[in-house]
Amino acid sequence: MKTKITFTLIVLFSISIALQANKPNWGATGHRTVGVIADKHLTKKAKRAINNLLDNHNLAFYSTFSDDIKSDKAFNKFYSWHYVNFAFDAKYDRAKADKDGDLIQAIETCIATLKDKNATRDDKVFYLKMLIHFMGDLHQPLHVGRGEDRGGNDIKVKWFGKSSNLHRVWDSDMIDGYNMSFTEMANNADKLSKAQIAFIQKGTLLDWVGESQALAKTVYSSAKNDDKLSYRYSYDYLATVRQQLQKGGLRLAKVLNDIFG
Ligand code: ADE
Ligand code: ZN
Ligand code: ZN
Repeated sequence: MKTKITFTLIVLFSISIALQANKPNWGATGHRTVGVIADKHLTKKAKRAINNLLDNHNLAFYSTFSDDIKSDKAFNKFYSWHYVNFAFDAKYDRAKADKDGDLIQAIETCIATLKDKNATRDDKVFYLKMLIHFMGDLHQPLHVGRGEDRGGNDIKVKWFGKSSNLHRVWDSDMIDGYNMSFTEMANNADKLSKAQIAFIQKGTLLDWVGESQALAKTVYSSAKNDDKLSYRYSYDYLATVRQQLQKGGLRLAKVLNDIFG
């Protein structure tokens, strides 16, 4: 009896560890920070349209929706929409792209649906929630990573002595270790001039993908399997994380302002 209970506990514990290891997202704090920053840069008209679609919840509130729905098998088909992996020395090739969808196709589908006069209100609401999340994912460099290590998920590292992986360090370990709320993160984003904001908001989706991929190269060279990461790693890379969250927020606002006028 006792061995059966011990065995069951070990199995449950292993499953919970495995599930955690495969959760591909900026953590909730990162996504919500992107949402708050975007909220501050919406036009009045866009804000009105979004308030209507989201029943007066803000962007931060729905920024984790695409992760929340992973608990429901009915939404399994969206799993690959959170990332895009392609060779670092190649251009993104639509002909070779993941047939199940990837982060680029995801963002394009969300935008197209929100612009489509014939789309239903339910579809617009769904794809708006998805878009808020995916614009965040786009700015986590390892979501534009290498397929062979699943965006760094297979690069096992220790984070302050605990088992983690390079992907998770960038999704959440650094941000959670910083210990600011998403509101504090957003309020303490760098103060930028109008010209600096306009510069960040310029460019196409593929330009932004290219930028994240270039950063991913740096991230891959920052750590290797079995590395022990702690204070020094955050000291070197937290500024990059903060900048990426800010770019994500500013570009989410840009995309939404373009859609909703
Ligand atoms: N699974 C496979 N590739 C991935 C990536 N780049 N990010 C998150 N999860 C993944
Ligand atoms: Zn995600
Ligand atoms: Zn992730």
